[in-house]
Amino acid sequence: MKIIRTRREIIYWRDHRKKIRVGFVPTMGFLHQGHMDLVRAAKKENDFVVVSIFVNPTQFGPNEDFAAYPRDEKRDLEILRKEKVDLVFVPKSPEEIYPEGSDVLIRGRKNLTSILEGKFRPAHFDGVTTVVLKLFNLVAPSRAYFGEKDYQQLQLIRQMTSDLFLPIHIRAVRTKREKTGLAMSSRNSYLSEKDRERASKIFLILNQYKDLSLARRAIKKEGFELDYLEAWSSDLSKKEDERWLIAAWLKRVRLIDNVKK
Ligand code: PAF
Repeated sequence: MKIIRTRREIIYWRDHRKKIRVGFVPTMGFLHQGHMDLVRAAKKENDFVVVSIFVNPTQFGPNEDFAAYPRDEKRDLEILRKEKVDLVFVPKSPEEIYPEGSDVLIRGRKNLTSILEGKFRPAHFDGVTTVVLKLFNLVAPSRAYFGEKDYQQLQLIRQMTSDLFLPIHIRAVRTKREKTGLAMSSRNSYLSEKDRERASKIFLILNQYKDLSLARRAIKKEGFELDYLEAWSSDLSKKEDERWLIAAWLKRVRLIDNVKK
């Protein structure tokens, strides 16, 4: 497995590789089975698989968990080596992606960035679209893989790819869940064993209820503090009952999830 840590090297690799189909899985590391599903989907339909590991500072707000975000590069590289990933791009520092003085920002469509997560994390999606576009340009994949767990992010990246005419197919992979129903996330490592059990109630309630206000009440009754629980169309363009999306706090941990209704 090849490991690259600089822009220069990855641009060299990009420009000198043979014309092969490259599948790309961007991650922030601290890998779990959800990431592995993305890697396996990429391996199935491409000749070469690239994974990036980069905790992107620009998608964290000033009071968010950038410093505390779980990191374990050694473990991640072992997992990816075992999975026979071909190349891992691990930028050696944030400056590798954000060279000093460069403050270019890619903004997604307002109708997608101003709702749901966008209301609670105002600069988050600008950071996501900016880093994803930079990574796309460096890796130049044929296909890129994103989990449905971050449903709004997935729609935004789809829209950006289409608005910028990027020659990349965006593939969505279903949310991987624990046996209890809890959606896998690197941030679950913040939860105690007992709180993981409690956190799984979110998925149960989303599935159990047909009425939004009753579901909201049930979430609060279980001790969560709700940022939002809303129903939207699958492409997030209209308020329809196709997909329910939620963000809720369990103590100091913010959990997001969504289900198809
Ligand atoms: O979903 C994530 O892990 C991140 O938002 C991504 C897409 C890797 C961009 O930093």
